[in-house]
Amino acid sequence: MLNQLYDRYLLPYLVDIATGFAPLERQRKNIVPKARGRVLEIGFGTGRNLTFYEPSRVTEIVGLEPAEPMRRLARKRIAKLGIGVRLLDAFAENIPYEDGSFDTVVMTFTLCSVLDPSAALLEMRRVLGQDGRLLFCEHGRSPHRSVNRWQKRLTPVWKKVAGGCHLDRDVGRLLEEAGFECLELERFYASPLRVWTWITRGEAVPSLRSFNPRPDPRAFCARKGKSGGM
Ligand SMILES: C[S@@+](CC[C@H](N)C(=O)[O-])C[C@H]1O[C@@H](n2cnc3c(N)ncnc32)[C@H](O)[C@@H]1O
Repeated sequence: MLNQLYDRYLLPYLVDIATGFAPLERQRKNIVPKARGRVLEIGFGTGRNLTFYEPSRVTEIVGLEPAEPMRRLARKRIAKLGIGVRLLDAFAENIPYEDGSFDTVVMTFTLCSVLDPSAALLEMRRVLGQDGRLLFCEHGRSPHRSVNRWQKRLTPVWKKVAGGCHLDRDVGRLLEEAGFECLELERFYASPLRVWTWITRGEAVPSLRSFNPRPDPRAFCARKGKSGGM
């Protein structure tokens, strides 16, 4: 009960504040303006990327976000900015679009929270069209042992208060295992808060090498106990 109240009324505001943290916010302008054509943004959150899209390059933005409290704040931001966005109640592990539907998939500070990051990335790969690009900026597992040790220690508690956020996911490895090839890849600490801000940022395309087939979305839905909404 308290958990539900927290997730519904407090968490969205806390996430909005945390994702507006200046060192993270700065990363957006390095990645989001590269989006072009038909864009799918995964884990749209409260819509913090919206002001960074380049209107002349983008024809449509679909914002996938499974949590209604997040969509509620996103709707306010969309209305305030007057930017056209189609908000979609769905999980990244089961994207309700045909293969090859998008020119760009944008994912910022989201892979840490999804239940099954490998399945989510395979879905992103599937919905990208020929010449499609994944633009990503994620925090995750530091290569430095002392930082990583703290990431591992803190994650079990942190994920309970931070909407399922894992501090210790290896973003580069997950991308590679899902069959993405990085055209650009930068890794760095975005702030002195090293446990939270080891950033992996770049641009990837589906690799030509063979890779795992699409996961069965029904398996994910069965685990999640529902087909949409949080
Ligand atoms: C830390 S927030 C980041 C929001 C936004 N991408 C940003 O850069 O500000 C993570 C978002 O991922 C969403 N999320 C969690 N699980 C998800 C899933 N399985 N599929 C898609 N989005 C998910 C959460 O609801 C939340 O809005």
